[in-house]
Amino acid sequence: MAVNFKELGLVNTREMFKKAMEQEYAVPAYNFNNMEQLQAIIMGCGRCGSPVILQVSKGAREYANATLLRNLGKGAVEMAREEGFKIPIALHLDHGDSYELCVSCIEGGFSSVMIDGSHHPYEKNVELTKKVVEYAHRHDVTVEGELGVLAGIEDDVVAARSVYTQPEDVEDFVEKTGVDSLAISIGTSHGAYKFRPEQCTRNEQGVLVPPPLRFDILKEVERRIPGFPIVLHGASSVLLKYVNLINENGGALEAAVGIPEEQLRKAARSAVCKINIDSDGRLVMTAMIRKTFKEKPAEFDPRKYLGPAREELMNMIIDKNRNVLGSAERYD
Ligand code: G3H
Ligand code: 13P
Ligand code: ZN
Repeated sequence: MAVNFKELGLVNTREMFKKAMEQEYAVPAYNFNNMEQLQAIIMGCGRCGSPVILQVSKGAREYANATLLRNLGKGAVEMAREEGFKIPIALHLDHGDSYELCVSCIEGGFSSVMIDGSHHPYEKNVELTKKVVEYAHRHDVTVEGELGVLAGIEDDVVAARSVYTQPEDVEDFVEKTGVDSLAISIGTSHGAYKFRPEQCTRNEQGVLVPPPLRFDILKEVERRIPGFPIVLHGASSVLLKYVNLINENGGALEAAVGIPEEQLRKAARSAVCKINIDSDGRLVMTAMIRKTFKEKPAEFDPRKYLGPAREELMNMIIDKNRNVLGSAERYD
């Protein structure tokens, strides 16, 4: 049975991005795979008054079950309202890879979808994105497209190295497709290993410092499509605190490097209206679960190890919204 997102109390991203653009911050889009992550996202964004995009990949939707997810979307809004949070909540498909998947999500209550045609030749990307936009807009669902390919793994699409967005394509793409926002490639990438150690320098503490993002490309994109919402994927900072905690508790993450927070702060003040974060949430959960397992080896109640992980994730989200994205205290 098809359901429109409005029946679930969700909103699309249009107003969110308008406000973020005017007030120079970025809306967080946090990926989740399970109930504890979803709870942490709602509580974290609710407590600091930040709008939020609940982000679900194709794989996450398969993992969670589409029917359960539709009800989770509704439940998330109801939970937020019962807690007294006034924040707008969107449910977004991350890296949709086909028209059919986007349609299925729209029928399943998603308020926003990404159609990622970035690995296709330009004309095919335009054609596919336009087709999704035509369907989505009939249901008032907003659509994110992508130009340029991020290095790393984008679901089934493996890009060996990043292909920066070519600013000269953006006006044509936005005009021909009718998309509501555009993901661009300026040097970020997915996962916890965003840069090879040889691409980085080391600071006085011996910590790997990656090369800066290509703000020149972002600036040129902004010049060509002023006021148009830009999206940054692969924007986890891969916080050292959690990488160390994982390694100290039996993990083996070597040379994990993310995007420095100052660079994200700078991006959030620009036309970047949406910042995608998945890996940072995964790292927090894994770090805290490993810590509990090591400290309390006799514990086997999932609430006893998932609970502290959920709490820490909520705190990480509040900190990120307040101090990096600037999205906190916008809906008090
Ligand atoms: O951009 C990709 C996201 O981090 C989702 O990853 O396909 O493993 O759920 P996933
Ligand atoms: P990270 O792997 O940097 O968290 O990126 C997530 C993302 O872009 C989801 O679409
Ligand atoms: Zn992504």
